[in-house]
Amino acid sequence: MGETNELEAIISNKMGHIKRKIAVMSGKGGVGKSTVAALLAVHLAKKGYLVGLLDADFLGPSIPKLFGIERKKPLSSIDGIDPVLSTKYAIRIMSIQFMTPEGIAVIWRGPMISKVLRDYLAYVSWGRLDYFIIDMPPGTGDVPITVMQEIPLDGVIMVATPHDLTAQIVERAINMARTMNTEVIGIVENMSYYQCPECGRIARFGKGADLLAKKYGLKIITKIPIEEKLSLFCDSGLIEDYDKDYFDNYLP
Ligand SMILES: Nc1ncnc2c1ncn2[C@@H]1O[C@H](COP(=O)(O)OP(=O)(O)OP(=O)(O)O)[C@@H](O)[C@H]1O
Ligand SMILES: [Mg+2]
Repeated sequence: MGETNELEAIISNKMGHIKRKIAVMSGKGGVGKSTVAALLAVHLAKKGYLVGLLDADFLGPSIPKLFGIERKKPLSSIDGIDPVLSTKYAIRIMSIQFMTPEGIAVIWRGPMISKVLRDYLAYVSWGRLDYFIIDMPPGTGDVPITVMQEIPLDGVIMVATPHDLTAQIVERAINMARTMNTEVIGIVENMSYYQCPECGRIARFGKGADLLAKKYGLKIITKIPIEEKLSLFCDSGLIEDYDKDYFDNYLP
């Protein structure tokens, strides 16, 4: 067996112990993919499911900061690398940020990133999981291609905002997923509205996500407002303590 086939066999075996494998994607940068991936992981872990969260954004890793665990280091043993456990709900997390000194960027080309991503899938001791959430980087390049090729995903959740410009880019990501025979589970509309304490819901940013959902026959899974508290909790590494659950009883 060649080296590549051997690695693929290991990945396939590892993924076989995970019930649901879901990537959070957008195509567009800065729309809240990492925030949504983290909120979804917390939502599922609160319900008692065993959850793993892979930060597949090598050039802009964000997951450790959201959980306040940037300085933790994964332990490695003969069996592989142990993911870092989140503080409150023991979500199993892996990120390139655990391996790089603070403030230092990873300067790698696509093939190197894809190789390390495969190593994460193969050599991290994910164990038995109910849910494996993958936080994708922006774009439709090497990482999303590798994730869709290597992981038998149950589907992708697309993060959009109400803006037409975002919808245009998310549309490309939807088409990419479909080209790669990956199901699009639905759309999360982030920064959907602002809940004004005095004057109620303000939603003036457009209807891009709704129109996109209609065009592609997709459901809007949830709408998350733009909110100061969420931003503060993200920046303070307290995403597990954020008390609102915009996913309600949703199970992907
Ligand atoms: N609903 C929201 N209300 C307020 N702030 C938000 C909301 N969603 C995300 N943010 C903030 O917006 C910023 C971008 O969010 P996030 O990092 O999740 O986006 P992203 O799509 O993962 O970005 P990237 O493309 O760089 O990976 C963060 O500072 C986050 O805290
Ligand atoms: Mg991100």
